[in-house]
Amino acid sequence: MKIINVNASEKYNVVIGSGILKDAGSLTASAIKSKTAAIICDSNVGAIYASTVEESFKKAGINTVKYIFPAGETSKCPEQYIKLLEFLAENHLTRKDAIVAVGGGVTGDLAGFAAATYLRGISLVQIPTSLLAAVDSSVGGKNGIDLTAGKNLAGAFYQPDIVICDVEAFKTLPKKEFISGMAEVIKYGVISDKELFDILASEDTAKRLMEIPESYVNIKEKNERCKELDREFIEEIVARCVAAKAHIVEEDEFEGGLRKLLNYGHTAAHAIEKLTDYEITHGEAVGAGMVIAVEYAEAMGKCSKETVEKIKKIIDMYKLPGSIEVTAEYWGKERELLAADKLTNAALSDKKVANGSIDLILPEEIGQCVIENVDTAGLKGFFEGKVI
Ligand code: NAD
Ligand code: GLY
Repeated sequence: MKIINVNASEKYNVVIGSGILKDAGSLTASAIKSKTAAIICDSNVGAIYASTVEESFKKAGINTVKYIFPAGETSKCPEQYIKLLEFLAENHLTRKDAIVAVGGGVTGDLAGFAAATYLRGISLVQIPTSLLAAVDSSVGGKNGIDLTAGKNLAGAFYQPDIVICDVEAFKTLPKKEFISGMAEVIKYGVISDKELFDILASEDTAKRLMEIPESYVNIKEKNERCKELDREFIEEIVARCVAAKAHIVEEDEFEGGLRKLLNYGHTAAHAIEKLTDYEITHGEAVGAGMVIAVEYAEAMGKCSKETVEKIKKIIDMYKLPGSIEVTAEYWGKERELLAADKLTNAALSDKKVANGSIDLILPEEIGQCVIENVDTAGLKGFFEGKVI
């Protein structure tokens, strides 16, 4: 088991281990004093893990109520947010109670926003079950919902009281979703951890990691083998990403500067997600977005061809789309629907646009990125891969 301390405006622990979901109640009781917890899950995760979490909370002397919503990004919406608030109120959750988000980034963002706003803020426990949520969305306090105009347009910074990550949960994660999480893992390598990037770039690592998802549902025998071989390894990878994120959040919790680096690949990603009606997953879109950004960095003379090739190769190794062409193929629709002008328009509703310009995160080399502010014309050039 690994514990990473996050020393932001609120201090909390991220506990990473194998088989610790059954201890979620006692771990929570060691962090907060709530008498009742509202356990929030999407329909997929609820069916697999809600009862384990409920039992562990009851065992720790915490009453539970449970709210299950339909799985998918489209649930990160105002209607679902209001329904959740109404559920909390109907069940008489008080300021002393807690919200427990069990699931992927959609659950964490939706439940986190409810925790930040219900009764002006109640305790929050994040229990990430997807790789993406474990390495990114459950840590650092950002939450939110999507509006028709774009992604994450309403939200808050609101730190959890504890994050509990059981890596065993990744074994029931659909492979597509595990791959999606790998995009955020690779992101940490590019923005701040060259050594992590090099570990991920080995064929052996890719093979070992890609065996983890769905190993439980598919092949029982293989599951046992994965358990022995890779439990420590995946814990180590998650801990490394969480430590990188914790460091950034401690330095710049409210995204005045350094935290913007975490948006590497995300300007293009949010535009792709919006144009594809979220049929392309967040991580898949980040995969393409990281390649678009590094190709633009090369066009601006900020990085070498070698850096571009390294990033394209790793994206390919983890079966992520590495271009708009491949993204359109994954989506099963014409490339023209993701044309540069359409992507530019979609990106202009990104919450990061300010006074007609946007900060792009561009790699200089592996492990080091810079912030480059561009105007609308520059943004179009970004999507066309040329400097305007
Ligand atoms: P998700 O929550 O939709 O989960 C992906 C799918 O995997 C869902 O169908 C879910 O039901 C399923 N799933 C999750 N864990 C499972 C498990 N252990 N076994 C079986 N199925 C499981 O999406 P995600 O990829 O986890 O997160 C993406 C979201 O996170 C996006 O909305 C993105 O904007 C947000 N995000 C937020 C932050 C932040 O800092 N707040 C950072 C990155 C991403
Ligand atoms: N995922 C971006 C951030 O937490 O800032």
